[in-house]
Amino acid sequence: MNPRFAVYPGSFDPVTNGHLDILRRGLVVFDEVRVAVAYNQEKPSGLFTPAERVALLEEVTAQFGGRVSIDSFHGLLIDYCRRSGAGSIIRGLRAVADFEYEFQMTMMNRHLAPDIETVFLMADEQHFYTSSRLVKEVAALGGNVHGLVPSPLEQRLLAKVGRG
Ligand code: PNS
Repeated sequence: MNPRFAVYPGSFDPVTNGHLDILRRGLVVFDEVRVAVAYNQEKPSGLFTPAERVALLEEVTAQFGGRVSIDSFHGLLIDYCRRSGAGSIIRGLRAVADFEYEFQMTMMNRHLAPDIETVFLMADEQHFYTSSRLVKEVAALGGNVHGLVPSPLEQRLLAKVGRG
C-alpha cells in the first residue's frame, strides 16, 4: 500500500471542471492518482454508461500525462484501493453541504480500512456550485453549461439530453 498513490473515486456522470480542478490539486500532493468510476453492477444508473465515463475521463485527463490513470470498479472502494495498492483516497469538498455525507463515508471507510487515509481537497471557488447532478439538470432544461464541463464533453452532454 503506497500512501503517495491515491485513488480519486466518484460517479463522474459526467466529469466536470470541478473534478479536474481537484485532480490537478491531487497531483501536487500525490505521485500518482487513479481516477476510479464507481458503478453498481446490480442497479445500472446514470446518464453516461460507466464505459462512456471512463472514455471521457481518459480524453480529458490526457493533459496530465502518465501520473494519472483511469479505471472503473464495483463493490467496496477500500477493496478496490487494496487491489490497486493505493494507500490514500482523494475526495473534493465544496460547500458545507458536502460535509455530512463525506464525513460519514470517511468514517465508514476508516472503520473498514484504518490504514487507508482519506484526504480532502477544496475546489477553486469558481467550482463551488458545480456538480454532475446540477450540470445534467441545467443541460436537460436548456441552460448554458459552457465552462462547467470540459469543452470536448459539452456537445456530447447536450446530445445525451436530447439537445444535440
Ligand atoms: O461522486 P460520488 O457519487 O459522490 O461518489 C461516491 C462514491 C463512489 C465515492 C461512493 O459511493 C463509494 O465509495 N462507492 C463505492 C461503494 C462503497 O465503498 N461504499 C461504502 C463507502 S462508505
